[in-house]
Amino acid sequence: MRRGRRSGCFTIVAVHSTARGPSLGGCRLRHYDDARAAVRDALRLSQAMTLKSAVANLPLGGGKGVIMAPAPELAGMPAWRDDALRDFGDTVEQLAGSYVTAEDVGTSSRDMETIASATPHVTGLPRRLGGSGDPSPWTALGVVTAIGVCCERVFGTPSLEGRTIAISGLGNVGGRVATACAEAGATLLVTDVDARKRSLADSLGASWIEPGEAIAAAVDVFAPCALGGLLDHDSALRLGAPIVAGAANNQLAGDDVAALLAARGVLWAPDFVVNAGGIINISVELEDGGYDPRRAGQLVRGIGDTLARIFDDAARRDVPPLDAALALARARLAEASG
Ligand SMILES: NC(=O)c1ccc[n+]([C@@H]2O[C@H](COP(=O)([O-])OP(=O)(O)OC[C@H]3O[C@@H](n4cnc5c(N)ncnc54)[C@H](O)[C@@H]3O)[C@@H](O)[C@H]2O)c1
Repeated sequence: MRRGRRSGCFTIVAVHSTARGPSLGGCRLRHYDDARAAVRDALRLSQAMTLKSAVANLPLGGGKGVIMAPAPELAGMPAWRDDALRDFGDTVEQLAGSYVTAEDVGTSSRDMETIASATPHVTGLPRRLGGSGDPSPWTALGVVTAIGVCCERVFGTPSLEGRTIAISGLGNVGGRVATACAEAGATLLVTDVDARKRSLADSLGASWIEPGEAIAAAVDVFAPCALGGLLDHDSALRLGAPIVAGAANNQLAGDDVAALLAARGVLWAPDFVVNAGGIINISVELEDGGYDPRRAGQLVRGIGDTLARIFDDAARRDVPPLDAALALARARLAEASG
């Protein structure tokens, strides 16, 4: 944690694990009320990145960066923002490659270019600079692949033709998931707190529902693609779909909700398995030979095999898929630590 010499703000990097390779995780730029909250966020999110990369079998550890904007309006001021990003680059550079940064909530691939002026340990640069660009299409590809695997388990076929799917959040990832599901012949119920997303719904022939209705919708699949923490003991009991598979991070309010869902016969695909497409795409950037979108597509589709393996393990051990996914991640970490 360092105070930037240009911006005066705190820049924070949490390196949770380097057992499998350099710790990689996005840089979040947002307002926090106090530095402790910013540090807590960095620590919590870096741990999640360790699990995500290990379960995806990537040669990466888990880390996270946070730029703490002391006031909300600063994040939108170009001069302050530029200084803060360069200060963050200095912090990354101090870690000499044990942490590699990427874009996250509040930062873009253009911001990665600014950070790259202070350190080479940056991924997610625009494609024209040899980077892997926007991760969202790859995250969406992983989500759609995962939905197919779940449908195969529950309905006996991975086809989305004729399936009903509720999608909550039509942003960078959810919008693409909706488009792909519509193209695959699914009937969609969609929602977003941003009413401007209605035009996408109309263009896809999807029915618009209110945000509060998505969880209880009587559909085949619920795909949460907005915020985390939406599945708690109450909402898990109201869930209308036998499958939950979506992009949102930290979907469960607590790990115990996984057992509740399993007891209700709901197949919940662990979020950190489903939404790994973005980080898988970034990992290709770090491979010898550099970024190759074909290789990225191949690896992201591998999320389907990983998920199938987790569901098999969970069924064999009679535990929720969350337990099987965590066990796989921990086994890979233990293997790497020798
Ligand atoms: N972008 C990626 O590559 C990526 C990778 C891994 C995980 N994720 C996770 O996936 C989720 C979506 O990411 P994104 O990049 O599409 O974000 P985004 O900000 O582009 O889209 C989120 C959308 O959800 C909507 N929304 C917010 N609150 C809502 C609510 N209560 N109900 C319905 N809609 C709501 C927003 O209006 C927005 O349209 C996030 O949880 C993110 O952390 C994204």
